[in-house]
Amino acid sequence: MERVIIRGVGSYVPDCVLSNADLEGMVDTSNEWIVSRTGIESRRICLDTEVTSDLGSRAAEKALENANISVCDIDLILVATVTPDMQFPSTACIIQGKLGCTDIPCFDINAVCSGFVYALDVGRNFLINNSMMKNILVIGAEKMSSIVDWEDRSTCVLFGDGAGAVVLSRNTDTNSEASILDILVGADGHLSQLLYCQGFGVTASGEGERERFIRMEGREVFKEAIKRMCAAVEDILLRNSLTIEDVACVIPHQANMRIISAISERIKIPQEKIFSNLQHTGNTSAASIPIAMDEALQGGHIQSGDLILIVAFGAGATWGASLIRWK
Ligand code: UT7
Repeated sequence: MERVIIRGVGSYVPDCVLSNADLEGMVDTSNEWIVSRTGIESRRICLDTEVTSDLGSRAAEKALENANISVCDIDLILVATVTPDMQFPSTACIIQGKLGCTDIPCFDINAVCSGFVYALDVGRNFLINNSMMKNILVIGAEKMSSIVDWEDRSTCVLFGDGAGAVVLSRNTDTNSEASILDILVGADGHLSQLLYCQGFGVTASGEGERERFIRMEGREVFKEAIKRMCAAVEDILLRNSLTIEDVACVIPHQANMRIISAISERIKIPQEKIFSNLQHTGNTSAASIPIAMDEALQGGHIQSGDLILIVAFGAGATWGASLIRWK
């Protein structure tokens, strides 16, 4: 069977830092509440003039540089996002234009905070099933600040903007074990009302401008996130006859430090194996895992041959996990 590797990783976050102290001046909140309930200290926010495709194309350029290939070698662009520049065309098409390539297929994927894992699965399947394709750009990019209600203290403290990207390629080194070993994705539509943004959806009615914003039943989402991410980790390890001891680094979706701690306690993952950067990114939805992956690599938390486990949960509800043997 064809094997697929992550050949390069890159990320980009906007320059503007929004601290908890800044939020204290905007809504009735405190640094103490935000840090103790979420672990978040600051997040990056786009300028009004910056859009999701700007973030995504910058992250993609870095991933291409890291993979040491030209954009001309890319055969498909996939973008996981819930904050597209426009309803259509897709942000993937806009990014293709910004990167300066033409003709290759491009499309967006919406699985909210699990979007990057879903896109990784789609990209991997393209490479396995279509011998014409050699390299695929998978991007998670979000301008969450554009759908946050800045008057709602229960959600506005949680989110940030940013993008992460990977280049997926066939593994041509037959001596190497490096590859994406497995990807698991799932969803439960019965939970769709726990976290949503009506936006330009056809069910939008009556509430005017505020329909553009994120609405969340935080406590329920919190419980489901722990339950589903634990199950995803256990399932993917079991079906690959592996245990958590085999894993060198776990990169969970960066939503809330208490969610990450609860997962590590239940599955008995030693703290030093868990990578987290939500302290300075907040929750960047589909961008969260590739941004964290890039930071983990830059910080020396991932070494050649390591087994990496990523796991995500998002609105839908959606979830996903992947086991990756690093190149
Ligand atoms: O990416 C996946 C999507 N999202 C998530 O994973 C988020 C999941 N949920 C959470 O992370 C947590 O539920 C929150 C961080 C959103 C909230 O934490 P919590 O411990 O569940 O708090 P809560 O919603 O139960 O609220 C506790 C209190 C309430 O006051 P009362 O009713 O006890 O008087 C809230 O009104 O905290 C109040 N509160 C705040 N206080 C200060 C809510 N937001 C704030 C705030 N500052 N920003």
